[in-house]
Amino acid sequence: MSAIWSNTSQNVARAAERLKGGGLVGMPTETVYGLAGDAANGDAVAAIYETKGRPRFNPLIVHVPDLAAASTIANLPPLAATLARRFWPGALTLVVPLKDDAPIASLVTAGLQTVAIRVPHHPVAKALLTQFGGPIVAPSANRSGRLSPTLAAHVAEEFGDAVPVLDGGPCQRGVESTIIGFRDGGPVLLRPGAIAAEDIEAVTRQPLGTPGSGVVAPGMLVSHYAPNAALRLDATSVESTERLLGFGGTPGAVLDLSPAGSLREAAANLFAYLRQLDAEADTPIAVAPIPPVGLGLAINDRLMRAAAPRD
Ligand code: TXA
Ligand code: MG
Repeated sequence: MSAIWSNTSQNVARAAERLKGGGLVGMPTETVYGLAGDAANGDAVAAIYETKGRPRFNPLIVHVPDLAAASTIANLPPLAATLARRFWPGALTLVVPLKDDAPIASLVTAGLQTVAIRVPHHPVAKALLTQFGGPIVAPSANRSGRLSPTLAAHVAEEFGDAVPVLDGGPCQRGVESTIIGFRDGGPVLLRPGAIAAEDIEAVTRQPLGTPGSGVVAPGMLVSHYAPNAALRLDATSVESTERLLGFGGTPGAVLDLSPAGSLREAAANLFAYLRQLDAEADTPIAVAPIPPVGLGLAINDRLMRAAAPRD
């Protein structure tokens, strides 16, 4: 039996039962696939860390169906509630103060006083949250430090038959959610992601602060999202030993993230194309320059971490 479960209401119910029993499932979201478990079950949360090979000091994102459910877990500052109303459901994660009686295992937040929460937009994620009836933790469904999965087949590649995955098709956004924290009531960009910082600033009407002095995302390790092949960024020419990953119609590219130069399309293709190049050969990959504006910020962030020296 394949570990990939087609998107039927029967399989969603089966996945919810598996979560209730403390098991894990691959869950599609509009950003990337998540490795989902019951947020209230400490053993399930421990199994997520173990399955991913993730350091335990790196807390997880809690997924809930709506703002009301989020409010049972965290105290949202006024600006957080405003952002939630504007961007949920969607690719925004808010890091907000944890409630004392929050119905989640302490391992979820790795001992922090804050919790990361998001309301996904993907219909299969929504259906699973409804069927399951409680908060679901889900980090990206890749082994720690590797490329994030944007297809059900990628999740199967990471974990084999050990983790069944609900097939929700290719992730429309392709990069992880934007993470916003708060310092003295003001917004801080903890991770650039699928919602452009400019779009968030249009709502906050104040510039996003940078991480530091106690407000950071512990998971922003320098080497991350790493393919097996070496990566060279901002390549304006290509060596004979390299394969070129283009953007905007780069001549000589073996793959182009977006021939039309759309950052949205490039984000959606990023991880799948890196995986494809990795599967084809282990010769170095040269990546054409990606403009560092809008979604280009998230794309360049992932590429920089993928290219960083490892261990
Ligand atoms: O799009 C996404 O956000 C995907 C999908 C599956 O929802 N999830 C995802 O999870 O990217 P993960 O575990 O790969 O990344 C979560 C990030 C980590 O960098 C972690 O350090 C940060 O969120 N984080 C979680 N809780 C936090 C907290 N209380 N304070 C600061 N950062 C936190
Ligand atoms: Mg991740």
